Amino acid sequence: MDQLNDSMVSEFVLLGLSSSWETKVFLMLTFSTLYLGIIVGNLFIIILVIADSYLHSPMYFLLANLSLIDVGLSTTTVPKMISDLPKEHRVISFHSCMTQMCFMHIMGGVEMVLLIAMAFDRYTAICKPLRYLTIMSPKICISFVIAAWVTGVVHALSQFSFVIILPFCGPNKVDSFSCDFPRIIQLPCTDRDKFEFAVAANSGFMSMGTFFLLLLSYVFILVTVWKRSSGDLSKALVTL
Ligand SMILES: *[C@@H]1O[C@H](CO)[C@@H](O)[C@H](O)[C@H]1NC(C)=O
Repeated sequence: MDQLNDSMVSEFVLLGLSSSWETKVFLMLTFSTLYLGIIVGNLFIIILVIADSYLHSPMYFLLANLSLIDVGLSTTTVPKMISDLPKEHRVISFHSCMTQMCFMHIMGGVEMVLLIAMAFDRYTAICKPLRYLTIMSPKICISFVIAAWVTGVVHALSQFSFVIILPFCGPNKVDSFSCDFPRIIQLPCTDRDKFEFAVAANSGFMSMGTFFLLLLSYVFILVTVWKRSSGDLSKALVTL
């Protein structure tokens, strides 16, 4: 907290999407429609999964959790972005900026682990069908969800702990429509190379790790389905 008081920057200026009046109206309408779609669609999925007892299975529980995260993730940035669009001078307070970054990365982290869990669920259902129910037990499902949240929080706090110790002494223009670690890390008056590296490595490790695990799960599924359709690759691809 001392660092917070020492720093001279109390708010950040978001350069955002500056453009003509028509473009702004167009962007506002487009983003509002998309945001509404995200919220309504995901809430619909959540309600459906909770209400319909046919959907009380691991796959749909994980899907509903993913929908919940999607609602949260878009709500941390999109409404502020839309309400900022018509303004000439877009600012965000230091604390809101830090909060926004943390929430974004917590939920981003949760989302990535949930995607891995969902891939694992499909891998088990297709490659180990006889043991599916014992492997994807309710206990394992809940463990996946808890692991997702722990990963998200650890990921976000590890980024945050780098950023919060930096001296923000003047430059406060963020070339984006929301706060994010890679942008904010450009601003402090200090030798920031190693911090930039740490932030990039942290997020890079998360996303590349998720990407390769997902890819791997698809390869396993493809090979299994391919073998079962006795070497017919196009049939296997359709199933995949
Ligand atoms: C998230 O997953 C857990 C564990 O499977 C489940 O108990 C919970 O109902 C899910 N949350 C939602 C919103 O569906």
